[in-house]
Amino acid sequence: MVRRLALLIMNNHLIYLNHWSSDDFDKFYLKVIEKKSNFLLKKNDNPKGFKGQLAYLFFEPSTRTRMSFERAAYLSGVSSILLSGVAGTSLEKGESIEDTILNIQAMQPQALVIRCSDEVDLINLANQSEVPIICAGWGKKAHPTQALLDLVTIKEALGEIKNKNILFIGDLASSRVVSSHFELLPRMGVNIGCLGPKEFSVARPPAFKINLFEDKNQALGWADLVIALRVQKERHSGRQNELNLNEYINQYQVTVNDYLKHQERGLKIMHPGPINWGVELSTQLQPYVHSFILNQVTNGVFTRSVILDQFGGWQS
Ligand code: CP
Repeated sequence: MVRRLALLIMNNHLIYLNHWSSDDFDKFYLKVIEKKSNFLLKKNDNPKGFKGQLAYLFFEPSTRTRMSFERAAYLSGVSSILLSGVAGTSLEKGESIEDTILNIQAMQPQALVIRCSDEVDLINLANQSEVPIICAGWGKKAHPTQALLDLVTIKEALGEIKNKNILFIGDLASSRVVSSHFELLPRMGVNIGCLGPKEFSVARPPAFKINLFEDKNQALGWADLVIALRVQKERHSGRQNELNLNEYINQYQVTVNDYLKHQERGLKIMHPGPINWGVELSTQLQPYVHSFILNQVTNGVFTRSVILDQFGGWQS
C-alpha cells in the first residue's frame, strides 16, 4: 500500500478510514486549517485559474436561465457547481429546500444562483445567508435577470426606451417575468399595456398606471413592442383551470396576420420562453419572429455575465 500522507487515499479511493492513525489525522487537520485560512485571507482561492465559484440551485425546471448562467460564468471566468431538481439529492430524504440552500452557502461559494417556487421564503434566506443570492426565477414573484435581459434587447432594438409602449399579452397572473418588469419598466419611463383573459389578470394591480386592453387589434395598434407570455398550466388553479384554450387562441394568440399588419411600423414580438407555439404565438409566426426572440437568449448570457461581475468576490 502506498501511503500518501497528504490525503491518505488508498488505491486512489477514499472510502474507508480504518487505516488512519491519529498522527495521520493531525497532519491532515493542519492542511485543512491552512487551506481554510488561505481561503479566508483570499490567498488560495484560485486553484485552477478561475476567479471564483458559483453554486447553482435549480429547484424548478429551467433550460435558458440555467445554461445562460453557465455560459455567463464562463465569460466571467467563474466556475460553478450545480444542484438541479430533486432526484439524487437529499431533498428525496426529506431535507427542506431552505436547509439545502443554507448548507450549500456554508460551503462558501461566491454566490448562490437560485430558482425556486413561491413557497420558499427567499428573502428570509437572503437575510440568513452570508453568501449573496442571485434570483434565477422565484415562483410567480420575480425573475430579475430575465427582465434585465429583456430590457437590454428592447433598448438594442428600439434605441430610446422612454415613452415607448410595451404590451404584455397572456398569462399575466402566473408570470414572474411580469412581476419583475412591473418593478423595472415604470422606472424607465416606459408605458405598460396588458391584454389577457380575466382569469389571468394580475392579482394585485400595481400602483402605477397600466393601459388595460380587451381587444387584441386595439392593443397591438398601441404597442411598439409585445412581450407574449406563456400559458403556465402548471401554476393554474381555480378559475384559471376553467380557461378554454381554443377561446384563448382565438382572442389572444399573436398570428402572422397580426404581425404583418404592424410590421411596417416596426412592431417587435418578444417572448421570455419557453414558447407554446400554437398557443400564445401561432406556429406560422415562427420564421418572422424567432430570430428576434433568440436574440433575447443571446443577450441573456452577456446580461448575466455583467451581473456576475458585479458580485465581484472573484475580481482580483
Ligand atoms: N425564460 C426562462 O426563464 O426560461 P427557462 O425556464 O428555460 O430558464
